[in-house]
Amino acid sequence: MVSMQRTLAVLNQKGGVGKTTVTLGLASAAAAAGRRVLVVDLDPQASSTWVLGLDPAALDASVADVLTTKNAQLGGIIQRSVWSDRIDVLPSTSTLQELESGSSKRLKRALAMLETDYEAILIDCPPSLGNLTRSALSASRHALIVVEPSALGLRGIGGVADLIDEVWDATNPDLELAGVVLNRVPAVSREAERRSDELAQIVGRSAIWSPPIPQRVVFNQAVGERRSIHSFGSRAAEPIAVFDSLWRRVRGTIRSAQS
Ligand SMILES: Nc1ncnc2c1ncn2[C@@H]1O[C@H](COP(=O)(O)OP(=O)(O)OP(=O)(O)O)[C@@H](O)[C@H]1O
Ligand SMILES: [Mg+2]
Repeated sequence: MVSMQRTLAVLNQKGGVGKTTVTLGLASAAAAAGRRVLVVDLDPQASSTWVLGLDPAALDASVADVLTTKNAQLGGIIQRSVWSDRIDVLPSTSTLQELESGSSKRLKRALAMLETDYEAILIDCPPSLGNLTRSALSASRHALIVVEPSALGLRGIGGVADLIDEVWDATNPDLELAGVVLNRVPAVSREAERRSDELAQIVGRSAIWSPPIPQRVVFNQAVGERRSIHSFGSRAAEPIAVFDSLWRRVRGTIRSAQS
């Protein structure tokens, strides 16, 4: 099977750390840079589907159909986002919850057929290390962990790294840890610095991506208004610059995987 060089899973078992914020921030930056991306919403909460302007309850088909149907055709399931004609969505639905058990290489098979249509395929994972996240990792070449630099934020990071190793070993020898993104980093905090050092000891200093994502109210506002951070213009100058830079890192990671 084609290796999924352009596919990146955004994950952490911990809830609310910013997986969706990172996925959508990267999509926003990609579109602003003129690149086409597909956001795969693998979370039954369907947050990214909703923020991208779709109503999960009103959809006829979702990523759940991809996981339950043999050789599902994505044509009728993928939707154009409201944000941009450069951002497509493979939407989620609450019934995805029931698929936490069961096995799947179907996602990989389905995505492999359209990978060349996009510069990147970004998978927003649910806050668990269950079957859905496993499916995402099985379908991805790259894994990006989102972490908050706090004591609680670092707990469980070992479990995430273990799952990546396990999927690599069992089903996907192409899988690599692309990096770890720090989210909600306060401007000055000894505690955050100490936790970043601790994280560097676990994953290696070079695995931690720079710049970190600052804590900013505009991220919350963007979700509430179902808008991209780039649509806020100069009001979100710093968050936009951070995501433009993280997007360049994603592109670089994808390009080096292709060469
Ligand atoms: N850097 C930040 N500054 C301010 N608010 C943030 C930041 N990152 C995330 N948030 C807010 O925190 C909340 C949780 O973020 P998000 O939904 O991205 O986390 P998640 O990991 O996807 O959560 P879940 O595990 O439920 O899927 C959202 O309301 C989001 O707007
Ligand atoms: Mg989320």
